Amino acid sequence: MDLGIRGRKAIINGGSAGMGKGSAKALAREGVEIFLVARGEERLRAAAEEIAAETGAPVTPVVADHSTVEGRATILAACPEPDILVMTCAPPATTGDYRDISPEDWHEAIDITLLSPIEMMRATIDGMAARGFGRIVNIATGAAKYPAEIRLLSGAPRAALVNYTVAVSKRVARHNVIINNLLPGMFHTATIHDRMTELAQQNGTSYDEEVQKFVREWRIPAGKFGDPDDLGAFCALFCSKYASFTVGQSLVIDGGLINSTF
Ligand SMILES: NC(=O)c1ccc[n+]([C@@H]2O[C@H](COP(=O)([O-])OP(=O)(O)OC[C@H]3O[C@@H](n4cnc5c(N)ncnc54)[C@H](OP(=O)(O)O)[C@@H]3O)[C@@H](O)[C@H]2O)c1
Repeated sequence: MDLGIRGRKAIINGGSAGMGKGSAKALAREGVEIFLVARGEERLRAAAEEIAAETGAPVTPVVADHSTVEGRATILAACPEPDILVMTCAPPATTGDYRDISPEDWHEAIDITLLSPIEMMRATIDGMAARGFGRIVNIATGAAKYPAEIRLLSGAPRAALVNYTVAVSKRVARHNVIINNLLPGMFHTATIHDRMTELAQQNGTSYDEEVQKFVREWRIPAGKFGDPDDLGAFCALFCSKYASFTVGQSLVIDGGLINSTF
């Protein structure tokens, strides 16, 4: 299937690993020019080379922290007129007792998961509208819809992000600027690999055993964690020409974990 976005330009904030990288790969396969953003230069350059070699698409690595004003200026200087904006980050730290979360913890999480996407959208939507095409996807979290105490720093700001994006998506859809969200559950990504490996070392188990333990405890119906490249394919669909009537949606991709009918 040709998604009709060949030659478009995409900024992928948080693109050197996990679901951001999976999304960059899926867009690059469609012939989209990629501006791949992350803080760590070595992993970023390696990811950019890998995606370019695999897909033949132009991939420009941009070393920047998208949670800062300076970082966002660097990103927009590299790609001033994006047609597509995909935004994500690493999963914020899991939380214990809600009373132990400090205001500093909140500010950090809010800067990276909420204010950063809001400011990126504010800076790019007018240009997209003027050019008559824009696609924006926030890769947020299922915890936005399925609150859990261990995910307070991740879920609460993303519930606000979903609220914001739905409101703004209604205002800009008539200009063919389309905003949607993906709400992932558990995936085999870089951060999850590190966390599960650490648990395995503590418990004298393996990565796979820790994953299976999590799957059992959280009763994930699919019986496994997801593949970031599979989520990337859904991201590319939301960025396609066919998404022009799909407005302000938040698609949960979590192996069936969240128990809601709609
Ligand atoms: N993985 C899961 O099972 C899971 C579960 C629920 C929700 N989620 C959500 O899914 C999203 C993606 O998670 P993931 O597991 O795919 O992440 P990941 O594998 O840790 O990758 C995160 C990517 O974002 C980059 N990044 C992080 N902070 C950044 C910043 N401030 N500026 C620029 N780049 C930044 C990282 O590179 P650098 O560190 O080098 O900057 C890396 O490229 C997150 O919103 C997360 O909360 C994930």
